[in-house]
Amino acid sequence: MALKDQYKIIEFKDLGDERGNLVVIEGEGMDIPFDIKRVFYIYGSDSEVIRGQHANRETEFLLVNVSGSSKVKVDNGEETEIISLDKPRMGLYLSSMLWKDMYDFSEDSVLLVLASRHYDGNEYIRNYDEYLEIIKK
Ligand code: TYD
Repeated sequence: MALKDQYKIIEFKDLGDERGNLVVIEGEGMDIPFDIKRVFYIYGSDSEVIRGQHANRETEFLLVNVSGSSKVKVDNGEETEIISLDKPRMGLYLSSMLWKDMYDFSEDSVLLVLASRHYDGNEYIRNYDEYLEIIKK
């Protein structure tokens, strides 16, 4: 599958008014394609740190830098793309079986992650050579 069909940048509506901004993300095909089972967020990562460096057999994700900025490199074994996350209204949808790196975190970066599955360490592929073998099967 072409990499461009494995991720999607989504611009969420801002329901804000004179009191401030309000962004809503509803699951199950409303704003994002999946039912949200898990939420986590990453902050306090140094600008030198590279996180992720894994693929997930099952889980789909939606990433939003609700504060600050970071970069995400996606890789399907054949193509790579770098996406800059720097707006609280901008979401990055990632399908399963994509290799991903998150890096270049700003000091104020809070990276919110919505996931389609509960955590299961067994569905993580953390070795890049193994990832390549699996997707080339
Ligand atoms: P890790 O997958 O290395 O984080 P990242 O994708 O940001 O690089 O996760 C760090 C630790 O936290 C690891 O021991 C697994 C654990 N963890 C959970 O228990 N539940 C979760 O939902 C996540 C994302 C991680």
